[in-house]
Amino acid sequence: MIARELIPGVSAVGAIDWDRRYFDELVPLPHGTTYNSYLVRGSEKTALIDTMYPARTAEYIANLKRLNIPHIDYIIANHGEQDHSGSIPAVLKLYPNARVVTNKFCRKLITDAIDVAADRFLIITDGDTISLGDRTLRFLITPWVHWPDTMLTHLVEDNILFTCDLFGAHNATTDLYATDEGRTLDTARRYYAEIMMPFRSHITKYLPMVEKIAPRMIAASHGPVYNRPALILDAYRQWIADVPLREVVIPHVSMYNNTSNMVLYLVDRLVERGLKVTPFNVVDGDLGELASALVTASTLVVAASTVLGGPHPTCVGALNLANILKPKVKFMATIGSFGWGSDIARKIQALMPNLEAKILAPVLVKGRAIEEDLKALDRLANEIYECNEQMTAHSAVV
Ligand code: FEO
Repeated sequence: MIARELIPGVSAVGAIDWDRRYFDELVPLPHGTTYNSYLVRGSEKTALIDTMYPARTAEYIANLKRLNIPHIDYIIANHGEQDHSGSIPAVLKLYPNARVVTNKFCRKLITDAIDVAADRFLIITDGDTISLGDRTLRFLITPWVHWPDTMLTHLVEDNILFTCDLFGAHNATTDLYATDEGRTLDTARRYYAEIMMPFRSHITKYLPMVEKIAPRMIAASHGPVYNRPALILDAYRQWIADVPLREVVIPHVSMYNNTSNMVLYLVDRLVERGLKVTPFNVVDGDLGELASALVTASTLVVAASTVLGGPHPTCVGALNLANILKPKVKFMATIGSFGWGSDIARKIQALMPNLEAKILAPVLVKGRAIEEDLKALDRLANEIYECNEQMTAHSAVV
């Protein structure tokens, strides 16, 4: 992508990856992604904030060459993952006097993965600054937004915060700024779900710090720049809040429609009670959508056919992902149909040790659901409703 100026002397010089469909071979990217890199020119020194995914190095270096930058003095590495650090060797080759500025942990991760000599680094600690002449970069060590090495860089005089993965979005767009707020929030929420949700407690510590800085722009290294930071800060406040919303997510798999008919019945009963419900077919659904739905959900109902006594294998992978993402669900239940015996409630619970949820009584049905089974689903809907009412009432008191 051609370089584009945010303000005089500060430009976005990264790349758009329209075609990438998986990140880490795990996270689906239906909207592609961007790898943002930012050039900051001071009166004396020039800095490059984050670099590039290795596969896009040639395009990135060509962009830098086109800009005719006489010198790059500092390469700021906010994070060692290679989508941001992978082009450091190529930039160092082009600018042999540049130093890589980062924290000790990040240096280790970079030198473990990439061929960069340890003496090319300038190691900083929390609160350190470097001067570019009329501009100052200040570093904020913020581990675990995504890896333990992560940090933020604050361009002090212009009050722009460069956050790397934090507040990012896998969103390939030519929009420099987050002007399409609906799409931005959809993609940022999905990104939060897949990348940041396991680190919610860390983000809870960092958000007040960002709010105190009150940046005029938040420039992450994936997705468009937030020139109205309240858009993403308000969203993160809701996503990291301890109390979820009155939302039920139902991942489901059904072999002969008996389980799916139970799901349809339960969805109606929950909607009648004023709850938002997101059913998710694990057989052909996009797991990113399941993760995204779990961001604010209070309740998880797993609906699965029984196969050889356990949950249908297709739902096991989805539940494993949901477990490692550590959503803040408060209530969990299992429903499903079986032929002659089932142990799925216990086995599904065992698949999800990271969830700190109250376990509600399962509704397991032999064959098709008959009247007494539907009454059991009514009772489950009532219990889910009551639990959500109490959760809401308790949070209002607190
Ligand atoms: Fe965008 Fe953790 O890398």
